[in-house]
Amino acid sequence: MRRADLKGKVVLVTGASAGIGAACAREAVQRGANVVLVARRAERVAALAAELGAAALGVAGDVTRDGDIARAVELARERFGGLDVLLANAGFGVSGDFVSLTLDDYRRQFETNVFGAMRSLYEALPELEKRRGAVGVVGSVNGYVSIPGWSAYCMSKHALRSFCASVRLELRERGVSVTHLAPGFVATEFRRVDNANEHHPEATDPTPSFLLLSAERAACQMLDATLARRAEAVITLHGKAAVGLARHTPGVVSLALSLGGDITRRLSKRPAH
Ligand SMILES: NC(=O)c1ccc[n+]([C@@H]2O[C@H](COP(=O)([O-])OP(=O)(O)OC[C@H]3O[C@@H](n4cnc5c(N)ncnc54)[C@H](OP(=O)(O)O)[C@@H]3O)[C@@H](O)[C@H]2O)c1
Repeated sequence: MRRADLKGKVVLVTGASAGIGAACAREAVQRGANVVLVARRAERVAALAAELGAAALGVAGDVTRDGDIARAVELARERFGGLDVLLANAGFGVSGDFVSLTLDDYRRQFETNVFGAMRSLYEALPELEKRRGAVGVVGSVNGYVSIPGWSAYCMSKHALRSFCASVRLELRERGVSVTHLAPGFVATEFRRVDNANEHHPEATDPTPSFLLLSAERAACQMLDATLARRAEAVITLHGKAAVGLARHTPGVVSLALSLGGDITRRLSKRPAH
């Protein structure tokens, strides 16, 4: 399949210092875009911007902090003349059973995954409207399928999916598309990040490698879906199967999870915080 062109377009990626976000930034530059990279780890963002050259601008920023994304959008305007695509990708997973978590754990999860994506869209929208732009919001298969041991994360991704479904219809009349992107297991640092959103390079990913899609392939499909202005795209075969089963045979999924809940908890194993 021919990959959608991005020549002359400007793409802002949140969570661009690692994983899917970094892969999306590389892919966008390969397709001819200028990119603005945002994440908290300044040295990582600077290194990727240096790798990508004049087409990239790195901005150290936190989606939970007022002003950071506004500054990135302003820099996109100054340096590249505007904004065509927002990939609201920054996110992490709080894991653990409800009884072992606190309200603050749930709040922290929502601050980044939900309010961070919303803040990014609020800040980017005026520029996106000028160019009839496109937004890709990175949710998850867990925005369709809720599993034990991950209620905070699943709630945040369900909220994002619902947000996209409403706002997609609202922004259509402004010429801006909203695509809900829902990956299954992707090979990134995601399962090496603790409940406080700190990265642990020494930790191992408990996901069996045969289930993992590369971040590059995921990024390619996510960019294509966003540029095609699709309503949603589920990424990975196992993800499509899980979402299909959850939609059409929810009872079967519920039975499977009640029998195999320990598996999802095992996947929750992550560094202590
Ligand atoms: N990997 C999977 O299996 C999978 C599956 C479904 C959905 N997803 C979703 O995909 C998205 C990307 O995750 P990933 O898998 O690529 O994980 P990752 O490798 O851990 O990357 C997460 C990115 O988000 C950034 N980030 C986290 N908190 C941030 C904040 N407050 N402000 C700005 N940037 C922030 C991180 O950078 P800093 O630490 O430098 O800020 C990093 O660049 C997430 O929304 C995740 O929920 C992943």
